[in-house]
Amino acid sequence: MFRFAQHDKARAVEPPRVVNIEDLRRAAKRRLPRVVFDYIDGGAEDERTLRANCHAFEEVTFRPRCAVATPACDLRVSVLGTSLSMPLILAPVGSSRLMYPRGEEAAAGAAGAAGIAYTLSTLSGCRLEDVAAASKRTVWYQLYLIGGRDCALSAIERAKAAGFSALVVTIDTPVAGMRERDLRNGVKELLSDNLGSKLPFVSQLLMKPRWLTRFLADGGLMKFQNVVIPGKGPMLYADVTAALEDSVVTWDDLKWIQRAWGGPIVIKGIHTADDARRAVDVGAKALVVSNHGGRQLDSVAPTLRVLPEVVASVGDHIEVLLVGAAGGAGVARAIEILRADLSRTLKLLGCPSVAELDRSYVDIPGDWLWKMTNDR
Ligand SMILES: Cc1cc2nc3c(=O)[nH]c(=O)nc-3n(C[C@H](O)[C@H](O)[C@H](O)COP(=O)(O)O)c2cc1C
Repeated sequence: MFRFAQHDKARAVEPPRVVNIEDLRRAAKRRLPRVVFDYIDGGAEDERTLRANCHAFEEVTFRPRCAVATPACDLRVSVLGTSLSMPLILAPVGSSRLMYPRGEEAAAGAAGAAGIAYTLSTLSGCRLEDVAAASKRTVWYQLYLIGGRDCALSAIERAKAAGFSALVVTIDTPVAGMRERDLRNGVKELLSDNLGSKLPFVSQLLMKPRWLTRFLADGGLMKFQNVVIPGKGPMLYADVTAALEDSVVTWDDLKWIQRAWGGPIVIKGIHTADDARRAVDVGAKALVVSNHGGRQLDSVAPTLRVLPEVVASVGDHIEVLLVGAAGGAGVARAIEILRADLSRTLKLLGCPSVAELDRSYVDIPGDWLWKMTNDR
């Protein structure tokens, strides 16, 4: 995906090269060192949930209403009181700067230009103020309690001052998931501050000279600019795995976070109706049904399968979101593809707007109970 940024802008508009999202994935695979690509592409353990997430979408079939004219489908939605040009919010992606120079700023810029919101991960290589400036539109800040409450408080204060409009608290990461590809590829060794442990990667990195040159020109390996440890400064990449072990977010922490932030909170990482109700109880304004793209606990149910349970339990009280992830022109192309897909599909369904798209337009396996109790 990142091959289209900056120098490749002109080529990015040539239609046959990038027709769908899988083309962007293949381009990223060609461009990035394997250790970086697998960090993005991989899931936890046997990657069952990662595969199941995709499979669950493949199982959905449509029920179009034909002979219906829908000349200009309305894709706009309102999320937390903000109008978005389409129902898409870029999910937090840690270490985007490893993938492309100033990756977080580039992705936020593409989101802003497309009129959608961008969520900045705590684990960002760019300063949150620079990311907000790059977007010029709606930005949300994703919070981990890495580094403790004092450290989180300084990020919260900075995010408020920079104009971030919602705080997304991720609750499914009490410890880093076991991503076997990362262990085999040696991500930890690559990110360590010991030069000797990077030696085995030299040939792999040299095989991707464009990525390497740009990465080094961007400052090389890096600190988390918004995880500022009091008295120590920004946290090093090498310290993040250990820091995650101490950063579990509990429901009690959420009350503290709520007070410290004072604005809308979105809870990310809801898998069940029970946790959805707790999110409502602590006063969250939205929740994200998410299993972290299958990167944390393996063998949890795909997000699409738990969505109906969550909506049925809390849908009247809170906004329920389901998210996607990605990094300049590559991100812009991904958004363009998704926008065109959505608009075309609505027309083929005979549905005039996203607002009117409901379950009567789809068949979801296991959804028979809903069908029996609702008129089509
Ligand atoms: C490379 C990568 C890094 C990610 N980093 C974060 C992160 O820092 N914080 C977070 O809450 N989620 C992170 N995620 C998860 C995404 O925000 C998102 O939840 C996931 O890609 C989509 O799966 P879902 O539909 O289960 O949410 C990351 C995902 C990827 C692929």
